[in-house]
Amino acid sequence: NLKTQLAHVAFDGPLLNASGIHCQTADELADLAATANLGGIVTKSATLLPRQGNENPRYYDLAYGSINSMGLPNLGYPFYLDYVQKEEAKPTILSVAGLSADDVIEVLRDVQNSDYQGLTELNLSCPNVIGKPQTAYDFVATRKVLERIFEFFTKPIGVKLPPYFDLVHFDQIAAVLNDFPLTHVNTVNSVGNGLVVDIEKEQVVTKAKGGFGGLGGAMILPTALANVRALRQRLNDNIAIIGTGGVTTGADVFAHILCGADMVSVGTQVIKEGLGVYDRLTQELQDIMDEKGYTSLADFRGKLQEL
Ligand code: DHB
Repeated sequence: NLKTQLAHVAFDGPLLNASGIHCQTADELADLAATANLGGIVTKSATLLPRQGNENPRYYDLAYGSINSMGLPNLGYPFYLDYVQKEEAKPTILSVAGLSADDVIEVLRDVQNSDYQGLTELNLSCPNVIGKPQTAYDFVATRKVLERIFEFFTKPIGVKLPPYFDLVHFDQIAAVLNDFPLTHVNTVNSVGNGLVVDIEKEQVVTKAKGGFGGLGGAMILPTALANVRALRQRLNDNIAIIGTGGVTTGADVFAHILCGADMVSVGTQVIKEGLGVYDRLTQELQDIMDEKGYTSLADFRGKLQEL
């Protein structure tokens, strides 16, 4: 039994696509709806207006992960708001991003006024929009936008966070988030502004921002696990956690849940392996649980031991 729950929404299994991964177009979303062992569908972060995104190349595969500088290409929020209201195969999470706080408020007003009753996730952490900082690294700005949202927004909503690297920053972001009725926190977004160097060409590998881009895949697993663990230790019990980052095996899914994740999403590895990855990860997770005698995720969720 791999069932899990996020706010009022029940999922058959804990795996999600990471936002941005195979979830931008109607065709891609239809593929996700038909993917076995994918518990729910997260949409590409949607903005007020459609965006082409950054210039190519904007994704580069690495032996140990990936680097991307997509720049929020998306069809604009009305497309995704319509899609999540029609999707029947699996629960959805509507991901929303803004180029400004005013944009976010405008989009969320429409979500509030729509018939959509599912989950929404506010992306406070896109690293790749030229000239825009990652909101969630500014604790004052984060509190301000959440205050504005909860003046009118009564539907289930969580936030997507960037990775933090200092224990004091975990204290500070948790103190902000604990003041609001959030359904969940999704941690982590890509590790922002890495730089990959092709030494043969003596060049960067992605076009925008001089090659600085978001890192994902196996190289970020310890950072992702640290963020899941540190936030689980600090957030109110009623804020669920989606663990994202560095998953390539069922053992990595198990580790995320052991650190406190209620659900786990997969990004880079889907691009490397295709949507069949969810079958493999589920089988590997089930094998580990069987070997350990666990019959539900709750048997080990959050139970990581210290030395
Ligand atoms: C993009 C990347 C992100 O990590 C994110 O949270 C949102 C958007 C992007 O470049 O499209």
